[in-house]
Amino acid sequence: MLIAPSLLSCDFSKFGDEIKRMDLAGADYMHLDVMDGHFVPNITFGAPVLKYVRKFTDKVFDVHLMISEPLKYIDDFCDAGADIITFHIESDSDPDETIKKIKSRGVKAGLVIKPNTPAQSVFPYLEKVDMILVMTVEPGFGGQSFMADMLPKVVKLKEEITKRGLDVLIEADGGIGAGNIADCAKAGVDVAVAGTAVFKAEDPAKAIAQLKINN
Ligand code: DX5
Ligand code: ZN
Repeated sequence: MLIAPSLLSCDFSKFGDEIKRMDLAGADYMHLDVMDGHFVPNITFGAPVLKYVRKFTDKVFDVHLMISEPLKYIDDFCDAGADIITFHIESDSDPDETIKKIKSRGVKAGLVIKPNTPAQSVFPYLEKVDMILVMTVEPGFGGQSFMADMLPKVVKLKEEITKRGLDVLIEADGGIGAGNIADCAKAGVDVAVAGTAVFKAEDPAKAIAQLKINN
């Protein structure tokens, strides 16, 4: 299992240094939550900010777009140095067109499903994406409680991906920590996002290492 610390919980007055700190602590991906105050009731940062912090690490920039019109901004996030862009199937952009746009830039593409969206909604796109992100909280804020009832969705997706012989990663995001990481791994999660569990830990390196052995 790969661990992707969510920078949403970092000290943004030193965004670059926080990314470096996570790199040194053993993070596999940098999970970057982009929110527009419209698709979700919170605002974070956009492509210009990512462009500046890109130089602080060579690790994968895993950009999670929680915005109403992802298609409009794909070029900006690709230019800023995203390695993976995930966007919500519940957004206003056409999934096929948006995936095509991301791929045309040589960047990996993924679809995200909110807690009320069934696993089957992304089945038509499994051949076209590199990742499916299953939200284990309602998107918008860090520090929420893990919704264990999302794990059957992960199991269902894993079965379908395996059945079709595809190379699609399953990521889970929200409320993940030492208490549920083993359940995530068992269900089939390949990449676990962790904000609070890593940033509120006294020793983030230890927290990341613990998440990795806990599964
Ligand atoms: C929530 C974000 C998550 C969040 C995770 O909308 O997508 O990435 O920051 O933070 P924790 O681990 O604190 O739930
Ligand atoms: Zn996220």
